[in-house]
Amino acid sequence: MKPDRHDRRMFLKAISAGAAGSLLAASASPNAVAAGGPNTLNAASEYLFTDGIAYLNTGTLGPCRRETIEASMKAWEGLESYPVKYYGRNGAEELAEKTRITAARFLGCDVSEIVITNSTTSGMNAVAQGMRLKAGDRIIVTDQEHGGGLLGWEYFAKYYGVAIDKLVIPRGENKAEAILDRTRKLIQKNTKLISASHVFSSTGLRMPIAEISALARSKGILCVVDGAQSVGAIKVNVKELGCHAYATSGHKWLMGPKGTGILYIAKDAQSIIRPIQFEESYNTYSDGNGVVNLACILGLGTAIEYLESVGIEKVEAHDLSLRNRLYDKLKNVRNLTIVSPPAGPLASPMLACLLPDAIKNTTVVQTLLNKHKISIRPTHKEFGFNGIRFCTHIFNTENEVDNAAEVLIKELSA
Ligand SMILES: Cc1ncc(COP(=O)(O)O)c(C=O)c1O
Repeated sequence: MKPDRHDRRMFLKAISAGAAGSLLAASASPNAVAAGGPNTLNAASEYLFTDGIAYLNTGTLGPCRRETIEASMKAWEGLESYPVKYYGRNGAEELAEKTRITAARFLGCDVSEIVITNSTTSGMNAVAQGMRLKAGDRIIVTDQEHGGGLLGWEYFAKYYGVAIDKLVIPRGENKAEAILDRTRKLIQKNTKLISASHVFSSTGLRMPIAEISALARSKGILCVVDGAQSVGAIKVNVKELGCHAYATSGHKWLMGPKGTGILYIAKDAQSIIRPIQFEESYNTYSDGNGVVNLACILGLGTAIEYLESVGIEKVEAHDLSLRNRLYDKLKNVRNLTIVSPPAGPLASPMLACLLPDAIKNTTVVQTLLNKHKISIRPTHKEFGFNGIRFCTHIFNTENEVDNAAEVLIKELSA
């Protein structure tokens, strides 16, 4: 028998309560402020957050809204009622194409330039593999790349003799022109491409991708972008950026199901970037892909449609205003050094702070979670700094940000 809507909600609630129970300390902080309070763009009831948690961790994984989960569940239940329902792709293409069309509209490109993937990593790997680089070729990557956007290039360096030139972005950088100058100086005769994150997972710095793409195009080389920390957080129009390829995740700022992603490959780069899996077609169902997770792909479409209905400009403004508020509250705190750009063109809705060596970032993160029900993350080890990172998104409130700052300041001075 099919569970009705109410049963399904109860089931989802139970899952979320169970998961949270193992993650969080039993006692709730009296200071914790529920998501979706005043000043938020949407209501707390739209999410399954455990009671009282302030979730400032979307850059790690974003939450799905109830509507997104229900869209996926409905599709999944339909599928499981007769598992071969879509066998031979019968009808599935049309459903999956709907998400592809939505993704193309959201990113400002043609549907023929979009592929639905599993993650940013799978998109970036597909681009690297599809470039068929060879010994002697050179590529430029920044020294702030996340492993998901770097591994593909390192693979070609390790096994094919491709040379990697590192574009150094000093901590605290806040000048687009300086970044551009350094990039320009790294381009050599055999340079084939520049690969950079749009927003760094290390510091939240927003790279001047439009300018880097223009530089790449003027030199006849490609610009490939890791957009894991940008799409859904800030407005991304791939045509305005002018890049050749752009990979993103469904499961972070887009608030789509885990294990979903989007890859854009510009029309004029499709003959140069030729991943095996998209050789036959960019369609979601193709001989190059095999069976895909249709339920999650449909959920991704629902998640994007929701952000469209709110308006990405409005989301970006909200997210940035909270981040800037946090910046102001933390900028003069003892034992804390902000390493993200101040409010301005290079800022994004992520804020990273450096801690003194004597205060371990993992301890601070655990204390905030277990004692105060505030979820943030320690900065990535590979970037070599002992830091913490906050992310502010559509469901976060001024109260949450104020409380997080207050609690952190108290803990650091204790
Ligand atoms: C900049 C960047 N690239 C890639 C990834 C990996 O994303 P995914 O798990 O979707 O592959 C992350 C994850 O945090 C990231 O921050």
